[in-house]
Amino acid sequence: MIRQMPSSPTTGPPDVAAPRTAQPRVLITADDLQRRVGELAAAINRDYAASERLICIGVLKGSVFFLVDLVKRLELPVAIDFFQTSSYGGGTSAGEVRIRKDLDLPVRDADVLLVEDIVDTGYTLRTILDLLRWRGARSVKLCALLDKVSRREVEVPIDYRGFEIEDLFVVGYGLDFAERYRNLPYVGVLEEGK
Ligand code: IMP
Ligand code: MG
Repeated sequence: MIRQMPSSPTTGPPDVAAPRTAQPRVLITADDLQRRVGELAAAINRDYAASERLICIGVLKGSVFFLVDLVKRLELPVAIDFFQTSSYGGGTSAGEVRIRKDLDLPVRDADVLLVEDIVDTGYTLRTILDLLRWRGARSVKLCALLDKVSRREVEVPIDYRGFEIEDLFVVGYGLDFAERYRNLPYVGVLEEGK
């Protein structure tokens, strides 16, 4: 049985403790992840070939593994920077996202590629995309590894999308459950009784 969990981990660890031995069921293999990252990087290399100033921006901590694998495959001059966010109150559904760590770099007149692990309700990305435009970025696009499209509450256009997934709580390749499992090389689903 697949354990469905409320997808609001930005508000803190969920109240269900994962058994120490729980081994997530593989949803996307490490090979499939690497192949898809290569395809996304090829598209980005083509689309930004003429860009003079590209900044890839990740949202800590989940996007780190994906961002690193992606930028290693870019054959462009590229800078990287990070936001860290959390949501106010009891969940992301309130739609108020707090910036806990801001960028180091100015984005004015830069081509910004926001790199995210997963788009769920869309509130986090909506907030960040609006902020980057407001700060005067020349262009802003979104590259998301995973898209839980059935959970979307606010519209967020994804320019480069890795995989569409069902409404499952996933871990690995940067994604955590109470800060665990980020280091798995694959994307998995926690199952009950293991
Ligand atoms: P949002 O609901 O689109 O604002 O997503 C906020 C954040 O919740 C994402 O960037 C992830 O860090 C986290 N998140 C959403 N779904 C999952 C999941 O299935 N596993 C782990 N983290 C998730
Ligand atoms: Mg995230």
